[in-house]
Amino acid sequence: MLNDTSFAIHPGKEIRGSERDMYDAGKILSFAHDGNRFLARCENGEFAVTFYADEIVRLQMNPFGETEKKHSQAVVLEPEGLPFSVTETGQTVVLSSGKIRVEIGKDPLRVNIYDGENRPLFTEGKKGMGFKADGEVVMFKEMGKDEFFYGFGEKTGYLNKRGEILTMWNSDVYAPHNPETDPLYQSIPFFIAFDRGFARGLFFDNPGKTVFDLQSDPDHLSITAESGSIDYYVFAGPTMKDVLAQYTALTGRMPLPPKWAIGYHQSRYSYESEEEVRRLVEIFKEKGIPLDVVHLDIHYMRGFRVFTFDRSRFPDPKKLVADLKKEGVHVVPIVDPGVKEDPEYPVFQEGIRKDLFCKYLDGTIFYGDVWPGNSAFPDFTDERVRKWWGEKHQFYIDLGIEGIWNDMNEPAVFNETKTMDVKVMHANDGDPKTHRELHNMYGFFMGKATYEGLKERLKGKRPFLLTRSGYAGIQRYSAVWTGDNRSFWEHLQMSLPMVMNLGLSGITFAGADVGGFAHHANGELLARWTQAGSFMPFFRNHSALGTLRQEPWAFGEKYEKIIKKYIELRYRWLPQWYTLFEEAHRKGTPVMRPLVMEYPDDENTYSLFDQFMVGDNVIVAPIMQPAQTVRSVYLPEGNWIHYFTGETFEGGKYHLVEAPLEQMPIFVKQGTMIAHGEVKRNTKEKDESLTLHYYYGPDTRYEFALYDDDGESFAYQDGEYFRKSIRISADPEAVYLEVKEEGNYRPDWKELKLAVHNGKEGLKIYLNGKALQQNSDGTYRLY
Ligand code: GLC
Repeated sequence: MLNDTSFAIHPGKEIRGSERDMYDAGKILSFAHDGNRFLARCENGEFAVTFYADEIVRLQMNPFGETEKKHSQAVVLEPEGLPFSVTETGQTVVLSSGKIRVEIGKDPLRVNIYDGENRPLFTEGKKGMGFKADGEVVMFKEMGKDEFFYGFGEKTGYLNKRGEILTMWNSDVYAPHNPETDPLYQSIPFFIAFDRGFARGLFFDNPGKTVFDLQSDPDHLSITAESGSIDYYVFAGPTMKDVLAQYTALTGRMPLPPKWAIGYHQSRYSYESEEEVRRLVEIFKEKGIPLDVVHLDIHYMRGFRVFTFDRSRFPDPKKLVADLKKEGVHVVPIVDPGVKEDPEYPVFQEGIRKDLFCKYLDGTIFYGDVWPGNSAFPDFTDERVRKWWGEKHQFYIDLGIEGIWNDMNEPAVFNETKTMDVKVMHANDGDPKTHRELHNMYGFFMGKATYEGLKERLKGKRPFLLTRSGYAGIQRYSAVWTGDNRSFWEHLQMSLPMVMNLGLSGITFAGADVGGFAHHANGELLARWTQAGSFMPFFRNHSALGTLRQEPWAFGEKYEKIIKKYIELRYRWLPQWYTLFEEAHRKGTPVMRPLVMEYPDDENTYSLFDQFMVGDNVIVAPIMQPAQTVRSVYLPEGNWIHYFTGETFEGGKYHLVEAPLEQMPIFVKQGTMIAHGEVKRNTKEKDESLTLHYYYGPDTRYEFALYDDDGESFAYQDGEYFRKSIRISADPEAVYLEVKEEGNYRPDWKELKLAVHNGKEGLKIYLNGKALQQNSDGTYRLY
């Protein structure tokens, strides 16, 4: 197969249909390797291979020039590479790290990649890498008959992306009706290929317009990029969690967010005055609905000029922020990239004076129409500009602000192409490129500038950043929301696979606007959406100008009660969330997971998109249709306990589950544990007591590790954290807990209790071999 040239695409030779005028790399003419990089000269271009870890290999092909050693900024690993072995037999050269074997066919160049056990990771078969005369690069990979495809960042549609054509081109799409809308605001050119339990990943690092075609040819997927070269990484897996650990080792992991950012966020386009914001927070307090964050949309600014407050609407922002902080509520203002063209506006003046805006090759500044009117756009690809932008945030820091919301950073422009002219130049830290080549990284660089600027100025406190646009690696700087959805049931449905696939693309801190942004919500939709949202990583209610108000109480008492209950539940579950966020930060494992991640051998999970897992033991099955009070829920092997009723459900099948309006079906796996704190006004209030809920099952084993720290500083990096690892095993007579503690931090809570669910009379509980006495309320004291 390797040497089958019958289908090889030769220079100048015309190929059928969509592959017309396509050329491939041709023959390898010569090759060399210097211990950590393999380099081949082909008839048409240069091909290079570098190993960054035993399970991570980088492959590059540049038909138009020399392959660069340099990584894009999406990548955090050192560019040196590791040594690998090289063997040559006849027409084939084999490079191996032990965990990955790259078989290179010399005539024509063909690359087949296997893992250490000889399982194919990605193979090319008859089609390889090539280019088109107009500067597009293209590569093909074989698709197995039984393969499923996940990831691809922020995409509409279902969980499995096989059969789709997906375009990567960050775009501002205002509240689309069409469920197939593509592309959207984010581009994460990364996917996981999954074949009956075997997972591996591919990251195609090209921030220009890129199309993943998993449709046109049943046996091959193709990746075509409009500009740049072929530069991709293969991750050997073999589990989904391994792939994500490998991918996030390369592109970085989410910093541990401040605890307050994991709480409930309330937003509106816009809360337009200080008075309105104060009143909003008061109502939350009066009604006893927990609240951690209020977002300020564009009306807080003076004529939508960034780094200003409109003093007629917000006379004393510093006092507002301080007063709210006393109540435990953080203010997060929106910051867009567009700087209003206004000779009397200091930020604009400075940008001109210091030469910070994006320009054409001839030196003229690119202006585009956005909220403030005609605006210039900082060139965030330039370190100098990023530093300046970071410094500008001193304005917000001085007001006591610790979190920023970045929007319109695709960048969005109100023109025909909806974005910056592709011919505009970017400085790109001394390696100038056109906007066409770097488009998908504009938001990423804005995020980098903002996060680093905040971090430097917050003196040891963790910043919070939310962004609409991004590229691979954006998780290092920012949480992500899925942009302008609508108050449609369909958009609630779509948010599940979307946020799960973001998690499978390294971005775990993600969520959709709860209640829907555009269009009018209604009580039932808001109640059901809040239920789902309260179990998604980023939990914010946001709605657009001119739509019905959508605060928790907006649709009357009946709905308010339910909405309040689920926001409270978020707070009750906060120790569990925080534990999972820390795991995501450390390992790259997403907090919200598709079932296939935990049950890779169960085919029923492969396409399951309308229910999800939080961690490895909780299944959430939201109601996403009006007037529905019963739904089917798939439960994998094992027994599952209904979180609200305590009923036991047998796994390995579908169940019809009751779901009255006040109840979203949630199941905890028998034999496992979750951590609960207390319902509180917000994260400023500390838990007095924590409870570990154990769902007893005879002959089960589980490991749980409760995590905590101060929730706001970076001291955990120096050992100031608390981790209680609990190994649990159970037999028909007893539960045995083996507990270990780690870290120097002492949590604020005074006691740690154990509640045993579904235990039978007389069940004994042993803690490190010692029998525990039951408290009068039926719990046990662990701490
Ligand atoms: C964009 C954002 C939206 C915001 C609005 C006004 O549409 O996606 O969240 O409310 O701009 O700033």
